[in-house]
Amino acid sequence: MALITADMPIGDVTSRWPDTARIFARYGLSCASCAISKSETIAQGAAGHGGGRIDMNELLRDLNTFADTGRLPANLPEARATAGAPAGVPRGMAEQKGVKHVIAVMSGKGGVGKSLVAGLLAAGLAREGFRVGVLDGDITGPSIPRMFGVREKPQPVGKTQTLNPPRSRGGIPIMSMNLLLPSEEEAVIWRGPMISGAIRQFFSDVAWGELDYLVVDLPPGTSDAPLTVMQAIPISGVLLVTTPQALATMIVTKAVRLVKQLGGDILGVVENMAYVRMPDGSRNEVFGPSQGLKLVIAANAPLLASIPIDPEIARLADSGGIEDYDGAEAAELIKNFLAVAPEKHPAVRA
Ligand SMILES: Nc1ncnc2c1ncn2[C@@H]1O[C@H](COP(=O)(O)OP(=O)(O)O)[C@@H](O)[C@H]1O
Ligand SMILES: [Mg+2]
Repeated sequence: MALITADMPIGDVTSRWPDTARIFARYGLSCASCAISKSETIAQGAAGHGGGRIDMNELLRDLNTFADTGRLPANLPEARATAGAPAGVPRGMAEQKGVKHVIAVMSGKGGVGKSLVAGLLAAGLAREGFRVGVLDGDITGPSIPRMFGVREKPQPVGKTQTLNPPRSRGGIPIMSMNLLLPSEEEAVIWRGPMISGAIRQFFSDVAWGELDYLVVDLPPGTSDAPLTVMQAIPISGVLLVTTPQALATMIVTKAVRLVKQLGGDILGVVENMAYVRMPDGSRNEVFGPSQGLKLVIAANAPLLASIPIDPEIARLADSGGIEDYDGAEAAELIKNFLAVAPEKHPAVRA
């Protein structure tokens, strides 16, 4: 009996039968874990992602097999090449044995909240029990150390070249060029090769220990700076941060092309400063209406969260308290990230 039909919102299906997200994913509809799927129907999702190549009959048959029997069908389409751990580190890349997955946070331009999303991601994953570190690859400002309230200079391990990263209050190791500079205000005017050399060392010559995720805050934009960083360290997946301004989707298209050129994968998109919550509970979309659906289509990746402009975020980010932020949208970001992430459960530790 066909319970599931093409006109049902994907979100309804996955909330009733959570494991169907795996079936959707095999058909290239990773949007099953996407915020948009709440309203998008299976037919719309297939049209948006599959380029018309998804066989709706087969998808519905597999979904209904699961709904009827509670078992995943045996002959699901092969998983697409996913963003999992890279098979072998390409030549010329820095190495770091203890780090399982590197997640790079990217933006088309500065000031959209890239560092903030990197911070929320790291803090949220740590809260879920993952072992997380943050590598600040954006030397244009001290946002990462400030957000986590870290000021200590990294100290060498014994007499080696390896540096011990200082830790946040919650125990997250943080490495940033800004921690090595004499003062926060010191402007860093470095050229690309020097930056990527430094970042490479921040990856390989820092005692990160065993990490499930190393979150890398990339330099802003889609120019040389983020590119050289992505070429220097083995990235498992990229998170793209934008605001809902008109130009955002064009920038996203550019960013997607860049990531693809490097053989990488966009895991998801985060729309930041999407709206302001008004006292009456309504949403004021200061920067224009949400571009969520367009972003999803442009990036061919799920929208992981729409984060409002929240004075509490700004306050905590400025005062070293980002780990204390517990907004619902941050929780949603983590939940949706884990649905597409290469590692879905914290390692069991003694
Ligand atoms: N959703 C938000 N609500 C309130 N303030 C925000 C939000 N996102 C970012 N900010 C603030 O905006 C500024 C820029 O954010 P930041 O993460 O440093 O941007 P980027 O890294 O993209 O340049 C910071 O002061 C940050 O605290
Ligand atoms: Mg920043």
